[in-house]
Amino acid sequence: MNGKYEIGMIGLGVMGRNLVLNMADHGFSVAGMDNVSSQVEALQTEAGNRPVLAVAKPEELVAALRSPRAVMMLVPAGRVVDAVIGELTPLLQPGDLILDCGNSFYQDTDRREKELTDRGILFMGVGISGGESGARHGPSIMPGGKPEAYERVRPVLEAAAAHVNGDPCVAYLGPGAAGHYVKMVHNGIEYAVMQLIAEAYDIMRRGLGMSAAEMHAVFGDWNEGDSASYLVEITTDILARTDDDTGNPLVDMIRDEARQLGTGMWTSQDAMDLGVPVPTIDIAVAMRNLSALAEERREAAALLGRDGPTFGGDPKELLAWLKEAFFAAAIVVYAQGMAQLKSASAAHGYGLDLEAIARIWRGGCIVRAALLEDIRQAYRSRPDLPNILLDPGIGARVSDRLESLKSVAVTAAGIDIPVPALMASLAYFESYRSGRLPANLLQAQRDYFGAHQYERTDREGSFHTEWT
Ligand code: 6PG
Repeated sequence: MNGKYEIGMIGLGVMGRNLVLNMADHGFSVAGMDNVSSQVEALQTEAGNRPVLAVAKPEELVAALRSPRAVMMLVPAGRVVDAVIGELTPLLQPGDLILDCGNSFYQDTDRREKELTDRGILFMGVGISGGESGARHGPSIMPGGKPEAYERVRPVLEAAAAHVNGDPCVAYLGPGAAGHYVKMVHNGIEYAVMQLIAEAYDIMRRGLGMSAAEMHAVFGDWNEGDSASYLVEITTDILARTDDDTGNPLVDMIRDEARQLGTGMWTSQDAMDLGVPVPTIDIAVAMRNLSALAEERREAAALLGRDGPTFGGDPKELLAWLKEAFFAAAIVVYAQGMAQLKSASAAHGYGLDLEAIARIWRGGCIVRAALLEDIRQAYRSRPDLPNILLDPGIGARVSDRLESLKSVAVTAAGIDIPVPALMASLAYFESYRSGRLPANLLQAQRDYFGAHQYERTDREGSFHTEWT
């Protein structure tokens, strides 16, 4: 049976629906399926006279698709993905293609690809970033899998993706779970930059007693300069929003307990497995966990809290430092994430092109930032760059701002405002550029209690000392 629709979509939540409409706006005929009837109806209504079909059963979807079929799925990561694949696969034929476009854990993607390959079905793990509006108007798309599978969907993905200076924010990234791996690290970077922004906000709000309107102006100013980025832009917007019920800034009415779906934690865990230091991402995950200990924090505040010293300096000076400090710390976050991708590429055989990743992150995704153009240029001049801090231009952008970063860290510590992500970026930079770390002492200690041996600075070989 050969239907007339070019591509299918399972999962018609707002992301799936928006992506269907986006593809249809670019001239592709799309059949969407969801077992929740209200979602099917919503797509039917929103699609108007676009070439879109909305159905409620996988059989109807499969029958509507042109062969060989390409079926995208946008459903919650985890068991639902396996369930949908389990329901869909018996209806497909060898040579058909399934694209998992959710935030699946990359090891699940590897497993699913193997299982489906055994049944003759092509499978791609595709990271999609940009939230609801990205899905509708152009996300950043991170596909991984077999190159021939990518070629089949390349036209639709290129059309639907965001474009920056005419370049689509999509590129074939590599085999297996390469796409989901890159999306995972994208989210790790996302967590860390969000935490940095939250710390800057905390300094302004609690340290300087600034109003939401004043902070809105500060972030608006940052967004005009080096730090121009989606996350700074939405923070600016958030600070302008008033709560309809109370008239207070809406952000003040939101509980300080961050949730998470897991991608940041996976980034951190996998970096540990690879032995890649990503301390700003680690601390961002830890701070979400700490924020969730709301009851304990309240007990601790009653027992251990105090009215800390107030800021006695010049607010204008602190704000000037903060602007520079944020940018420097954010560069260090991208440095950590890109270094993780480089290492993962070697470990998992992805063959990642880091320049292409910087290019497709320039638009559509949550971590898009003006800085990504510089990162792209850095990889262009040196494709095997071990770390973007070793690019002379990017490295200098951090070192030129180091005094500001230190001043903010010291000031914040002095007025009891925790800035762990800023401090982690500072410590990473100081350690990375340090020709000599105190790890010699660690080696001596290991040898002392465990006879683990050490290497000497003056000659080759492994040595052990009877320390006692
Ligand atoms: C994106 C986002 C998106 C989603 C995150 C949120 O790139 O569009 O990252 O994938 O909003 O999964 O993650 P947490 O719920 O873990 O914060």
